[in-house]
Amino acid sequence: MQTRRALLFVPGDDRRKLEKAAALDVDTVILDLEDGVAVNRKDEARATVDAALRELDFGRSERLVRLNPVTSGMHKADIAATVHAHPDGYVLPKVETPGEILEVSADLWQAESQRRWPSRSIILLALIETALGVVNLPGIATSDQRLKALILGAEDLASDLGARRTAAGHEIAYARGALVMHAKAFDLDAIDTPYVKLADRAGLMAETTLALDMGYSGKLAIHLNQVEPIQAVFTPTIEEIRAAQRLIRAHDEHQAAGSGVFALDGKMVDMPMMRAAVIVLQRARAAGIDPDTAV
Ligand code: COA
Ligand code: MG
Repeated sequence: MQTRRALLFVPGDDRRKLEKAAALDVDTVILDLEDGVAVNRKDEARATVDAALRELDFGRSERLVRLNPVTSGMHKADIAATVHAHPDGYVLPKVETPGEILEVSADLWQAESQRRWPSRSIILLALIETALGVVNLPGIATSDQRLKALILGAEDLASDLGARRTAAGHEIAYARGALVMHAKAFDLDAIDTPYVKLADRAGLMAETTLALDMGYSGKLAIHLNQVEPIQAVFTPTIEEIRAAQRLIRAHDEHQAAGSGVFALDGKMVDMPMMRAAVIVLQRARAAGIDPDTAV
């Protein structure tokens, strides 16, 4: 199971930052060709991303490339310049229709079959960051088996809505809820929007915890310093692991004794809590922790 807790954006034309990101213990690096790159530096970024994919050792990190949107027409050149290095996948921004996913997927299928790579060995993640993208979530989420995750892009969405960004985030609450609902309905990861206040660690942790509470499994990062706090929030603590194991043990004992519901520490426990405990252990394993030997 691929775990994507922090996904770090790196401007594709900045070799120095790409090297820093490659050396980092981060689940996913997104080498950006879209809005992190000036319009007049797209060619340079394509060449720099291609070289980085071929030359740098990203360690355990997943390597994704963010394309320019299908509507820009630039995505074909982005794929052509980078696909032969076989990135793990592409992030498609400003997705508004299932057709955009299908179009890119067909191009990737062609690239894979030409090189005799396993089909669908290059995955897709869709950034949802316009009103139309949110409204079309059911079709987008079911468009293609290559699609593994839906990502919320709140800054672009707010500007598309004519909304103003607030600390509480009410203006994006509907989209944040809709995105995780569609992701979970169709077995995709839900990944939250980046936190743009670079120096506000407490704010970042609070917003990441909100995403975790809502069912999100990861969050975009835009600075090196954001990676560790995000990955920490999405990693269960030893106390959470212990509590989950205790609950599962108690549940098993009560099931064996013929009772489906019981009280533990003054709280009712039945099947949904049991499943939540199982998910805590799954998240621990995905983060590289063995619940049975963790101390
Ligand atoms: N990836 C890799 N390295 C990064 C990084 C990133 N996303 N963000 C910062 N760094 C590095 C810097 O290069 C710097 O290294 P150095 O001192 O050895 O040169 C170090 O971390 C400290 O950076 P800092 O001075 O705090 O920030 P900055 O002013 O250089 O950069 C940003 C600020 C926002 C421009 C930068 O964080 C960035 O490029 N983020 C990604 C933005 C992006 O891709 N946006 C599009 C998607 S929303
Ligand atoms: Mg965007």
